[in-house]
Amino acid sequence: MAKINDNYLKLPGSYLFSTVAKKIAAYQEANPGREVIKMSIGDVTKPLAPAVIEAMHKAVDEMGTAEGFRGYGPEQGYGFLRSLIVEHDYKARGIDIEADEIFVSDGAKSDCGNIGDIFSTDNKVAVCDPVYPVYVDTNAMAGRAGEFIDEHWSNLYYMPCTEENGFTPELPKERVDMIYLCFPNTPTGVAATREQLKAWVEYAKENGSVILYDSAYEAFITDPEVPHSIYEIEGAKEVAIEFRSFSKTAGFTGTRCAYTVVPKALVVEGTALNALWNRRQCTKFNGVPYVIQKAAAAVYSQEGQKQTKETIAYYLENARIIKSSLAEAGLEVFGGDNAPYIWAKAPSGMKSWEFFDKLLEEAGVATTPGAGFGPSGEGYVRLTAFNTKENTQKAMEKIKAVLVSRD
Ligand code: MLT
Repeated sequence: MAKINDNYLKLPGSYLFSTVAKKIAAYQEANPGREVIKMSIGDVTKPLAPAVIEAMHKAVDEMGTAEGFRGYGPEQGYGFLRSLIVEHDYKARGIDIEADEIFVSDGAKSDCGNIGDIFSTDNKVAVCDPVYPVYVDTNAMAGRAGEFIDEHWSNLYYMPCTEENGFTPELPKERVDMIYLCFPNTPTGVAATREQLKAWVEYAKENGSVILYDSAYEAFITDPEVPHSIYEIEGAKEVAIEFRSFSKTAGFTGTRCAYTVVPKALVVEGTALNALWNRRQCTKFNGVPYVIQKAAAAVYSQEGQKQTKETIAYYLENARIIKSSLAEAGLEVFGGDNAPYIWAKAPSGMKSWEFFDKLLEEAGVATTPGAGFGPSGEGYVRLTAFNTKENTQKAMEKIKAVLVSRD
């Protein structure tokens, strides 16, 4: 008889953002006509930049001609996009990454999950707590997480990120093999300093660990001292894989394009992970559509850079509005300066889901409950800055009205 991968049966409920979406939908069904402003999943609202649309149109037209038509593309991504990534995202910052170390994909979420394919299921995995649920759930699916008991996976090493440690994880007290780090962070919106990243690279070197560095939100960094890439740290190419995405940088959440950097210097048990990942991608992936890669390439044009930076500034202004409004409403708030997320502490010791319900039912504002990101997220909610400015302002007024009338 066929057997299933019973690791899936160990997973609790549904994926966090699906659970939240279901709750919002149920509320809307029960309260028809009541407006809900969504500040839950980090999905963008601004349209694609004109330069991106223009490039996409051109590429579509090319596909309709005998000379311009393309079938299967290179699994690793077209050379034109890989070299633009190298020039703009790495060489411009003094980082020496080569085009064949870049793997273009359909999303950082997929890559963060798929990367597990090239690692043994015996590896000990460290995750921040709270954490982007994809790292945890995909390791649970692979059988690396153990059993889910009392909101914890028995084989994961949790690194609490709390108010006391400034929401930055401390180095593990025991040896771990794979370390997921995300900076600027989802969910807390906090960025890592150069010193903190240096300590991680040193730890990984000393312990033979691999850092899986998710820098999907690097475009939101405003502080010139904050590193955009783990490879700004000396020696990181020997210990780290980096995930990047056009989703939040250029509004590609529905368009789908991202990339992963696997440096050739990263060797585990005598095997270059670049070669393994290439083998995996060639076998399981057929590349991102030409039209989409042309659209992504346009992000690096002069116009594309200007237009996408304007959009990021727009979302950062929303983040500022959220942060200051919630503080005015008496909440303790974190993040939001170098990231599109604000981490807010629920008032009067309320639990995350309680506060989520209150904001949804009384203010008509949907957030993401911090507890959904891990046990240390309990007592917090996360808000995204990706809605429109108008909705952000409206949501803040509604929240203020609810929190003030509470007293
Ligand atoms: C988030 O809300 O954390 C992100 O939008 C989810 C994602 O990028 O998958």
